[in-house]
Amino acid sequence: MKKIIIANFKMNTTPSEMKGYSMTLATKTANTKNQIIVCPPFTHLSIAKQFLDGSKVTLGAQNVSDAEKGTYTGEISASMLKDLGVEYVIIGHSERRSRFKETDRMINRKIKTALSYGLKVILCIGEDLATRGAKQAGAFVRKQLDDALKGIYENELEGIIVAYEPIWAIGTGKSATVKDIEKMTALLRKEISSLYSEKAGENINIVYGGSIDLNNYKKIISLPCINGALIGGTSLDVDNFSLIARENY
Ligand code: 13P
Repeated sequence: MKKIIIANFKMNTTPSEMKGYSMTLATKTANTKNQIIVCPPFTHLSIAKQFLDGSKVTLGAQNVSDAEKGTYTGEISASMLKDLGVEYVIIGHSERRSRFKETDRMINRKIKTALSYGLKVILCIGEDLATRGAKQAGAFVRKQLDDALKGIYENELEGIIVAYEPIWAIGTGKSATVKDIEKMTALLRKEISSLYSEKAGENINIVYGGSIDLNNYKKIISLPCINGALIGGTSLDVDNFSLIARENY
């Protein structure tokens, strides 16, 4: 089954390293049916574009401003990304929510801005350990989803991939279990169905992220309930990421 395999480098690697990474990934994934998206830091996008052109790999950014342009020193706009040939942008990653105080309202504005410039969105949601412990995970991610999608029309959902990334599984070496992933994706599809339509719930692309590695990727990504994976640490090694990206699931 065709899957969506996404790399999120976070704040790792240098622009000079991107050339070799891009060339290797492009070659090693030339024959895959999967959709591959690489999200390096902003500074790498231009060089990545140059060496990924004509390959199966598309480019994503890790963040975007909610504003279109103007007096926002240090920010990067949707039109800048679009102009560079970037196709996707990660919005609402838990690291941005917690470290940079991004709110659900801001995330909703970012999604609207990104979509209006023709960028596709990888929307991250997921609960922390305390919320999970209090058995509130379902209600928590439902609210994150509702708030993020306020004012988004059903026909715009094809430009959105929902990434379920439980915070307790990110970078901890302890991925969510198959049971956890099945339960949460069913809940998310049900929520999309009630917000939009039955069909929307079935068709929405949902990926899982959190401590995917060479030992667990096959079991997780093969699950029929998910459309793919969002991979952090393991994506930094191009051989490892290529292996995961070109697998037949
Ligand atoms: P890890 O794969 O390093 O756990 O990171 C997941 C993630 O946050 C991807 O966005």
